Amino acid sequence: MDKKLLKKEREPSILILDFGSQYSELIARRIRETNVFSLVVTNLISVEEILDIKPQGIILSGGPNSVYEDNAPKCDEKIFTLGIPVLGICYGMQLMVRELGGTVTPATNKSEYGRAPITMDGNSDLLFAVKDKSIMWMSHGDSISNLPDGFSKIAHTENTVHAAISNKEKNLFGVQFHPEVIHSECGMTIIKNFVYSICKCEPDWTTETFLDETIPRIQEQVGDNNVLLALSGGVDSSTLAFLLNKAIGEQLTCMFIDQGFMRKGEPEFLMEFFDKKFNIKVEYINARQRFIRKLNGIIDPEEKRKIIGREFIRVFEEESGRLGPFQYLAQGTLYPDVIESAGTNLDPNTGERIAVKIKSHHNVGGLPKDLQFKLVEPLRKLFKDEVRKLGKVLGLPDEIIKRHPFPGPGLAIRILGQVSDEKLNCLRDADFIVRDEIKKAGLYDDIWQAFAVLLPVKTVGVMGDKRTYAWPIVLRCVSSEDGMTADWSRIPYKTLERISTRIVNEVSQVNRVVLDITSKPPGTIEWE
Ligand code: XMP
Repeated sequence: MDKKLLKKEREPSILILDFGSQYSELIARRIRETNVFSLVVTNLISVEEILDIKPQGIILSGGPNSVYEDNAPKCDEKIFTLGIPVLGICYGMQLMVRELGGTVTPATNKSEYGRAPITMDGNSDLLFAVKDKSIMWMSHGDSISNLPDGFSKIAHTENTVHAAISNKEKNLFGVQFHPEVIHSECGMTIIKNFVYSICKCEPDWTTETFLDETIPRIQEQVGDNNVLLALSGGVDSSTLAFLLNKAIGEQLTCMFIDQGFMRKGEPEFLMEFFDKKFNIKVEYINARQRFIRKLNGIIDPEEKRKIIGREFIRVFEEESGRLGPFQYLAQGTLYPDVIESAGTNLDPNTGERIAVKIKSHHNVGGLPKDLQFKLVEPLRKLFKDEVRKLGKVLGLPDEIIKRHPFPGPGLAIRILGQVSDEKLNCLRDADFIVRDEIKKAGLYDDIWQAFAVLLPVKTVGVMGDKRTYAWPIVLRCVSSEDGMTADWSRIPYKTLERISTRIVNEVSQVNRVVLDITSKPPGTIEWE
């Protein structure tokens, strides 16, 4: 069916215009936490497009530029005359002030970075119930020296005269700090004041409403055609499998390609869980021999990733031809991927748009764009935490919903250099022990990833009365928000000791366990 004929998708109640802030996505997430739907759009969106969307409120994000720079990003100034409430955050507030006739002055020695208590100057809808002297997160050099007509100051800090401003009559507001950041004490109160009291939004963005709206859309899009889904067992593809099963039942076929680099028991678990327990048709493709043969003699990590990626596509094409025909391919694309590839972000140095910002190596294990399928991507407006909630409502167990990320090329990139069946078996056993002990210690949910890496060198040890000469296992545990930066996790000694003892005792060919205490950057999370 022609996409244009499909029922219109839900429009955002709050529209976030992105001026290149590192926090634009976070603003959207925070608003959705209040059960109000919001989307990030380019700062260049036209007033006509905005009127078509009919948002109840607009937020102008922060950004790295100064408003008086030649190439500073702007928005259509008619935005301030639409009668739609606007909240400018940091750069967004400065832009609004400048566009409406106020003055923004360059950074002086009064720049403010980090935590600062705000002092209230009178009452306002925006700062209602915000405690006087509450700590807010500041990150600005420039500041506002003169307000435009109709505006008044509603809060200040020691170094910033206009920490928050409002034009009550026109429903225009600005904050110099970042309410979306967790360090801002009453940040969520401000966000709720804006969405509920000022914009009059309804809390109607819930998993249940998402399901009610999305299932008929999927049914309408797909009609009576067949849909193929490459199931990996991760949160996204698993949730998608459950969602599609609910929407189109038998028309869905999941394909699980076992390249031989999965964790211990994973292929069996997936088949048992989806196919047997939930009656979701899963075609198991045993491609282990193919993949390991292709990696013979390959040592370079990039080459390894490319070979695995290419082979995955080849197997996928062959098998989909054999099982098909399928008119649709379902993909678990999430909202952050959509924002990144739409390139709403700006280059902090040039102010130009960054076109596509997807990390290439993370597409390994994914599918090329030019496959001859139409796409079904029902998760493309959701953040990861929303996918988890959806998965839970659809009946996925915590074992899937809360699992740590696992790279597409799997254990092959955790065995440095040449991969072999022997090393894979060894790493699988060690990896199982790591996860088992981390779970038993109650640490699993607080950690981003905990896994083992096998080093292709041998070291000397002694077991019983015998000399050993075997591989070391590296223990890699990291804490992270999004995988972009990470810190090594401070695992208690007792747990480290148990992991080490068990690996050395239970995994043959390993006589030493070492701990990776490198953060990212400079280290990456994976070793290859
Ligand atoms: P790095 O190693 O770049 O990893 O610090 C950051 C996060 O991404 C995961 N990762 C991948 N995920 N396909 C994926 O789906 C891949 O090829 C891939 N490589 C790394 C990694 O596990 C970590 O969570």
